[in-house]
Amino acid sequence: PRTAAVLPAAGRGVRLGPGAPKALRALNGTPMLIHAARALAASRAVGLVVVVAPPEGAAEVKSLLDAHALDGGDRTDFLVVPGGETRQESVKLGLDALPEDIGIVLVHDAARPLVPVDTVDAVVEAVRAGAPAVVPALPLTDTVKEVEPRIGGEPEPVLGTPARSRLRAVQTPQGFDRDTLLRAHESLAPEGEGATDDAGMVERLGLPVVVVPGHEEAFKVTRPLDLVLAEAVLARRKA
Ligand code: CTP
Ligand code: MG
Repeated sequence: PRTAAVLPAAGRGVRLGPGAPKALRALNGTPMLIHAARALAASRAVGLVVVVAPPEGAAEVKSLLDAHALDGGDRTDFLVVPGGETRQESVKLGLDALPEDIGIVLVHDAARPLVPVDTVDAVVEAVRAGAPAVVPALPLTDTVKEVEPRIGGEPEPVLGTPARSRLRAVQTPQGFDRDTLLRAHESLAPEGEGATDDAGMVERLGLPVVVVPGHEEAFKVTRPLDLVLAEAVLARRKA
């Protein structure tokens, strides 16, 4: 079956600070979402990328995609749809734009612009091999504590420390059997029952999700320091 990628890029990027919507911010002169779209289009498996644009930025995103022409060479199609209030809504709007013949769907954050094509391919491969939901992830380096949250910088009581060796930090692209992901989004809308990623919604349906190795360069650009790291990675790739 054909594979498509949904690229949610409609967030404001509040944690990155004031400026353009995060996906439109430049990394070494090229908007983040163009880097991310290229990373997906670089996979031979991906025939279509649905870019979910900031609600008022769809026209701008279209012209950016044209201007960067995504390096010709490959035959990836692009669609642009306006996004929603939450990431989950934006993903759903992207899914609604998929043509009938798509059997496998990747969902990839525009905020992870540097994901290597090998990671994209590994996720697609695992879905093709029969897993209904696949996430790339890495072991944690920090120890994680569960706390009783307190507001305003008050010390927070620790409730426990999960065994780090069993924890994984999850990245994107996450890959899905299309019908599975659609069912998850349709049955858990509008709140997603608290799921913070797409695979989490599939888990809530009681369906299996598997992890494949992620990649350090698939990190999410969230805070200003992440921009420094992303530009350093790009500079190293050029060298
Ligand atoms: N996203 C989206 N629609 C939203 C919110 C987020 O498409 N309403 C996308 C973002 O553009 C991003 C991805 O979901 O590519 C992951 O979200 P995140 O890293 O949280 O980005 P933002 O929501 O933009 O950042 P912040 O939470 O700091 O505002
Ligand atoms: Mg966000």
